[in-house]
Order: sequence, then C-alpha cells, then structure tokens
Amino acid sequence: MSRVDSMFLGLLQAMDPEKAHDLSIRTLARGLGPSLPPPDDPALAVTVWGRPFRNPLGLAAGYDKTALVPDACLRMGFGFVEVGGITPRPQPGNPRPRLFRLQDDGAVINRMGLNNDGMIVAYDRLSRRPRWEDRGLVGANLAMNADTPIEHAADDYATLACVLGPHCDFLVLNLSSPNTEGLRQLQSPDSVRAIVRRVRAAMPTRARPPLCLKVSPDLTNAELEALADVALEPENPLDGIVCVNTTTARPESLTHPAKAEAGGLSGAPLKARALEVLQVLAAKLYGRVPLISVGGIETAQDILARLRAGASLVQIYTVLAYFGPRLVPRLKTDLLALLQEQGFATVEEAIGADLKGSAAA
Ligand SMILES: Cc1cc2nc3c(=O)[nH]c(=O)nc-3n(C[C@H](O)[C@H](O)[C@H](O)COP(=O)(O)O)c2cc1C
Repeated sequence: MSRVDSMFLGLLQAMDPEKAHDLSIRTLARGLGPSLPPPDDPALAVTVWGRPFRNPLGLAAGYDKTALVPDACLRMGFGFVEVGGITPRPQPGNPRPRLFRLQDDGAVINRMGLNNDGMIVAYDRLSRRPRWEDRGLVGANLAMNADTPIEHAADDYATLACVLGPHCDFLVLNLSSPNTEGLRQLQSPDSVRAIVRRVRAAMPTRARPPLCLKVSPDLTNAELEALADVALEPENPLDGIVCVNTTTARPESLTHPAKAEAGGLSGAPLKARALEVLQVLAAKLYGRVPLISVGGIETAQDILARLRAGASLVQIYTVLAYFGPRLVPRLKTDLLALLQEQGFATVEEAIGADLKGSAAA
C-alpha cells in the first residue's frame, strides 16, 4: 500500500463510518479511483451462466447503492459487482447513526434501511454504461420499498426486474435484509414461488438476465433446504442463490459496545454461519444451481474454503472497510498461490472439490 493510500484509509477509518463510505464513493465518482487493473491470471477465470467471470471475487450489495460507480469498483480488480439494494422509488432509509464499526470484532452493524436514489436513477446510470464483459459483470440487488404493503411486494420486484433487467448481467431478489419491516417474511417457500413467477413473467423475453435469490443466515437449515427445493422447481426456477445477508444474531464472542445496536451484523463473526449455509445449500444444489457465497470472507483461505464447499463465486464487503481496496489484488495473488499449494490448477477445478470427495490436498 502506498503512503497516500494508507493515509487515506487511516483518514476514512477515523471518520464516522457513513461519512467515510460517502467520501469513498464521491472519490470514485470523481474518477480518483484505480486505473484499469492488469489482466487476471487465466487460472482465476470461472464460467457461470455461460458467462465469463475473469475472477470469482465480487463486491457484495450495499456499497454502491444506486449504481453510481460500478466500473470504478470493477477497476479495483473485482470480477463482478452487485449494485443496490435498489427500490422502485427513492427512499431515505433509517435515521442516522445507522452504521457502526465493531473494530476489534472485525465486524459492522448496519441498519441503513435500504437508502437509495431509486430505480429511475439506477436505470439512467446502468443503461448508459458500456458493457464490456472482459472488464467484469454488474448485477443489481432488488428490494421492495419500505412503505409498500407486504401484499404488493411482488409488484415492486417485478417492476424493478422489468426496468433494470435488460441493463444488468444478473439480478438478485433481496428478500433477506433485516432492516425493512416484513421483508424477511417474504422468504417463505410460497412467497418466493409467487415473487419469482411474477418477476419472470414481467421480464422481457429478449433480455432476461439470470435471476438469483439472496437468503438470510437466520433461516433454519430446514428452511434453507425448503428454499433449495423451490429453486429446483421447473415452474419458478432460480438461476442462483446468494448466501448470505447480514444477521440479527449477536454471537457471544462480540466485545465492542456497539454490539447492542439494532441492525444486521456482517464481517468476521458471520464467517462460520455463512460457510454452514453454503454447505446446506450445496448439498442439494451443487452442480445444478450456482451458489454465490458471502459473509465474513477475509482471506484467500476463506475464499478457497467457499469454492471447495461448492460456491462458484464469492463476494466481500465488510473487510473492505478495514483494509481498503488494495486488499482485492492481494486476495487474488494469495488465492493463486493457495490453489497451487492445494493441488488445483484453476479455480474451476476447486469448485465443489469437498463435495466430490476428491479434494486434491
Ligand atoms: C452497510 C451495509 C449495507 C448493506 N446493504 C445491503 C443491501 O442493500 N442489500 C443486500 O442484499 N445486502 C446488503 N448488505 C449485506 C452484504 O451484501 C453482505 O451480504 C453482508 O455484509 C455479508 O458480507 P460481509 O461479511 O463480507 O460484509 C449490506 C451490508 C452492509 C455492511
């Protein structure tokens, strides 16, 4: 890390977390972010949904809320970026403060409440950007407005998919944010079926990007298995599952006083459950429905563990608040070394290795 980078990161970390987030976005939006990264080693490439990902590491939803800087995020070295959560109408989210760093725990608690500029602004930005597959893929995280009656939630998701779908490489139905009342109850199998069917019917046939579901780590394993079954139903198929969103659980291990704040916990304390959720889903879906694992990933070891457990792609967010974007190239370099150490020639070879019972290590 250069001295300027580390000074900037230090400054961001000393600031109020939401102001630091806004400043980092504004900096990227002014073109002061990274320049085009060198091409990735071909061993990192993955094909998912028939699309080439130059590496399996993505930026999770919640950073670039209304698709202001997806290309600058890709230039950090990510293989893909999930913008959003985007709601049909703009909404301010919850009152501040609503974002808390739990430094010693390597964690964050947020109750942002899906603040974003709304679908029209996102459409404007996404539809104008040139789509170069070799520079990385961009998906959108879709969420209902907080003031939409729950019985009309499917309309919100269908509208979002119809408007944004043609300009995205994949869509993620966010039914798992803990900071919008009632939203997580949309994860019942019947409700997922109804929403997926409505969304699929609304999307123009010529431009239907893969449709994923993002799940909560607070579902029971039995509930997750039921959703895996729904994903396989031919009437309302899902193209992928993003696992997991933040948790409302508070592990005993947390030490920071901010652990008492309401909201979703992310970062290191989520690591074990995120891996467990992936294993539960992969037992049913590996080789059939691609899985994107997110939650508590900090190192190349974490990435490889998720790939071996059956994830085709992974995402990070909280760890960036602590280590900054320079972490991205480091993770990729470390991953290449680790793949070799464990006897895998490529990322593709490592995916699902633990399930095939043919771990190379
Ligand atoms: C400040 C913040 C905002 C987030 N906003 C969203 C969101 O809008 N939609 C969503 O599906 N997940 C959102 N997330 C969850 C992340 O995408 C991710 O699932 C979670 O943080 C776990 O990954 P991590 O431990 O690497 O941070 C947010 C997380 C944080 C910390």
